[in-house]
Amino acid sequence: MKGVVLAGGLGTRLLPLTAVTNKHLLPIYNQPMIYYPIQTMVNAGIKDIMIVTGGNSAGDFLKLLKNGKPFGLKHLNYTYQEGEGGIADALSLVEDFADNEPICVILGDNIIEGNICKAVRDYHQQGGGAKIMLKKVPDPQRFGVPQLDGRRVLRIEEKPSHPKSDYAVIGIYMYDSEVFNIIRTLVPSGRGELEITDVNNAYIERGEITWEELDGWWTDAGTFESLLHASNLAAETGANKLENKDAAQAGHVH
Ligand code: G1P
Repeated sequence: MKGVVLAGGLGTRLLPLTAVTNKHLLPIYNQPMIYYPIQTMVNAGIKDIMIVTGGNSAGDFLKLLKNGKPFGLKHLNYTYQEGEGGIADALSLVEDFADNEPICVILGDNIIEGNICKAVRDYHQQGGGAKIMLKKVPDPQRFGVPQLDGRRVLRIEEKPSHPKSDYAVIGIYMYDSEVFNIIRTLVPSGRGELEITDVNNAYIERGEITWEELDGWWTDAGTFESLLHASNLAAETGANKLENKDAAQAGHVH
């Protein structure tokens, strides 16, 4: 499985913090934001990783992350998203990199306490389709929200004013190579973006999606409140740490 960290966008909800730099380079407690999703990948045994960036300071990612040595990686891949096309548009840039393999996609501002090892294992056993991860939140209207019927997801609504559950679809997704065909069918949403929620709804219509609830805390960090919250959580209880740098270096991955 290959990994994709989406770190583009203009971060307009964080202006003026993002006036001259990229949101994903801002600090979360003692590390740049982008460190956390990379650590999540590496801890799950994913070491072939592409960073999709864009907007301000795109070159600073290379300066900061280089070849991924702080994470025990030998190499990192980078690509650049022009404009503000949305998450699914950013994802369309990694089709050649994915090369028909399944991918794990993490939004660069999603920070977790634990790991996604079980979800990655379960997805491999699933043998195709998609997997999303859910977390109960007090403010679901800020996120993609699933309507559930037991283990089945009936539909996901993006930022609904009347959420049909108190779960958020978090920004960690697993897809097979069909995702790129699905993205080609999408049309921009009301906010002018290709929505990841539309990708997930296409998998729901195909009957090819599963979900898992994430253990431990989760937060995004794209608003002043969530940025502060993420730093406080990381400082107080610790976000995911790089667990086994040597294993990644030795190429011990799934
Ligand atoms: C995006 C997705 C949303 C998801 C959220 C998780 O929202 O569109 O479905 O719940 O990430 O962080 P955005 O950050 O674009 O508001």
